[in-house]
Amino acid sequence: MADNGIEIEGLVFEADPAFGIGARQSASERAVAPTLTEDDLALDRSLRPKRLSDYLGQTKIKESLAILIEAARARGDVVDHILFSGPPGLGKTTLAAVVANELGANIKTTSGPAIERTGDLAAILTNLEEGDVLFIDEIHRLNRMVEEVLYPALEDFALDIVVGKGPAARSIRLDLPRFTLVGATTRTGLLTGPLRDRFGVVFRLQYYTPDELASIVRRSAAILGVDIAEDGALEIARRSRGTPRLANRLLKRVRDWAQVRGDGAIDEDVAAQALSFFEVDALGLDGMDNRILELLAVQFGGRPVGLTTLASALSEDPDTLEDVYEPFLMQQGLMVRTPKGRVATERAYDHLGIPMPPT
Ligand SMILES: Nc1ncnc2c1ncn2[C@@H]1O[C@H](COP(=O)(O)OP(=O)(O)OP(=O)(O)O)[C@@H](O)[C@H]1O
Ligand SMILES: [Mg+2]
Repeated sequence: MADNGIEIEGLVFEADPAFGIGARQSASERAVAPTLTEDDLALDRSLRPKRLSDYLGQTKIKESLAILIEAARARGDVVDHILFSGPPGLGKTTLAAVVANELGANIKTTSGPAIERTGDLAAILTNLEEGDVLFIDEIHRLNRMVEEVLYPALEDFALDIVVGKGPAARSIRLDLPRFTLVGATTRTGLLTGPLRDRFGVVFRLQYYTPDELASIVRRSAAILGVDIAEDGALEIARRSRGTPRLANRLLKRVRDWAQVRGDGAIDEDVAAQALSFFEVDALGLDGMDNRILELLAVQFGGRPVGLTTLASALSEDPDTLEDVYEPFLMQQGLMVRTPKGRVATERAYDHLGIPMPPT
């Protein structure tokens, strides 16, 4: 490359074999677990499924992926570019690694905000090898110029580079190895149309059912050597906001509580007591969820509230509110978005134990 006088600087790209989420935590990740300790990170890594068969739930997505992977392998071809979208902690990063493992491919990891200049992306792309998986987390945060370099790379496995300056400038096209891009985003809505269209498949991860989460809790408990009864696992699952990451965190806290206050074994009773102690309520709502509902129901008296108003009342970032908190509250039927703003539902008033104002 240097022979052509093209300067590519600032290699932000890093291969991350440990795939630790500690290295690059999204804002939303921090929001779910503001106090991530080294211990938590080690936990995430040790509990992260490596193969499709360890990955529980999301059945439809798993089946589709298995077909995609098998078909591509049979053809001796690379798998189409894949986009995973969905709220934080549902397993997008995990799935990216699973896809690479199933393909027996190397995975190179970066994120939208880490690729600041087109040269950064060019460096990443030219360092890929045939069949590699390139994982770009928070892909909705790529800037426009970088995105435009990505288009031909995705479509034609080619890199267009401008050499020289002024009237002498000309564009040359470099061939790239064939690779699979796996993108992850918490916000499909923020992806530009042209980028979205270049993914062969788009998977939307759904919140997990309590039964699925209970299986995840049991799997994690087995790995951690924790003694847990079926009903104990289900109790943790019910209060985990449909989210595996949270289920694992809660399991760990309940384990600690059970060690100190009991004999270490976790049943429904122990789990319920421990989780109440940690202020996780019966619906799995945490302090922030409940503050949102209280604001809507009490302070704003049930009137529709705009996103920015709500965010500033909570001293919270609007994006975090939209990415992390609202999807679950809406999925639970506790809050609705109307054209005029956010409104708490009857179920929210029931949950808070206050009467709904007449409309
Ligand atoms: N289907 C699953 N089966 C078992 N464990 C899972 C599953 N999905 C996720 N997990 C666990 O939850 C943790 C969080 O998952 P992951 O980091 O992949 O979420 P994410 O969607 O990438 O979140 P973010 O949007 O915050 O980056 C993982 O470390 C893993 O232990
Ligand atoms: Mg992730």
